Amino acid sequence: MTEVISPKKVRATHLAEFKRAGQKFACLTSYDQLTAAIFDEAGVDVILVGDSAADNSLGYSSTLPITVEEMIPFGRAVASASSRALVVVDMPFGSYEVSADQALENAIKIMKLTGADAVKLEGGVRSQEQIKAITTAGIPVMGHIGFTPQSVNNLGGFKVQGRGEGADQLLKDAHAVEAAGAFAVVLELVPAEVARVATEKLSIATIGIGAGPNTDGQILVWTDFAGLSHHKPKKFVKQYLQMRSALLEAAKSYKSEVENGTFPEPERSFEG
Ligand code: KIV
Repeated sequence: MTEVISPKKVRATHLAEFKRAGQKFACLTSYDQLTAAIFDEAGVDVILVGDSAADNSLGYSSTLPITVEEMIPFGRAVASASSRALVVVDMPFGSYEVSADQALENAIKIMKLTGADAVKLEGGVRSQEQIKAITTAGIPVMGHIGFTPQSVNNLGGFKVQGRGEGADQLLKDAHAVEAAGAFAVVLELVPAEVARVATEKLSIATIGIGAGPNTDGQILVWTDFAGLSHHKPKKFVKQYLQMRSALLEAAKSYKSEVENGTFPEPERSFEG
C-alpha cells in the first residue's frame, strides 16, 4: 500500500510531493477566520485568499478594483486561523504587472503583513519575470493560467481558454510558470484533455477549476461550493451545501419569532 503523505503543516514543497505520489489534494478559497478555521480543520490542504474577495466580500462587480491594502486584512484573518493548510494570498490586479520590482515589493508587503505562506499571480509567459523575481527572493509563487479573471476584458468575457490552437499557448504558459520557479499552477476554465497534458508534462502541481478531473488538485471558490452565492452556479461548480437558502430560512424564522414575541424564550432571559 502506498503511504499517504500527511504533513502537520502543508508547505509549498509538499504539493509536488503529493503529485509524485499520485495523491490528489483539495483547495478552497476563504476570506475570513471562521471559514478558514473550518476548512483547516477539515484537512483542506490549500486555502487561497483569492482576489475573488472583491466580488464575494466587498461587492465589486469583478476582481479588478481590489487593492493590496484591501487584500491584507483578508489574508491576515485567514493566515491567523489556519494551522495546517498552506495559505496563499492573491496579488491583485495592478500590483505586479508594471515590473518585476513592483511585483517583488508587493509580494514582500503581502507576506510581511498577512503571515501567509505564498502568493499567487496571474499570467504565464507575460508574468515570467515577475514570478522569477519573487521566487528568487525566497517567496513561493503559485501561477494562474487559462482563464485569468483579472484579464476578463481582454479575454472577451468568461470563456474557456486553450481550445484548438489555443492549447499550444496554454502549454507555453504552463512551462513558463514552471521555469520561472512557481511551485504550482492554477488552470482555470481549460478543456479537460489540455489540463491532462499540462499535468503530465509539468513536474509542479496543477490545480484545476473548471479544468476536469485530471489535474493534481482541485480548487473551488468557497461561496460557490457552499451555495452561498445568489448567482446561478457555473457548469463546473458543485454545491456541497445550500447555505443561501438555509440562511434565508433562518433569518425569516428569527424575524417572525421576534415579531410574534416567541424569541427570546424565558430560558434565554436573566433574572434580576
Ligand atoms: O480569486 C480566486 O478565487 C481564484 C480562484 C478562482 C482560483 O483565483
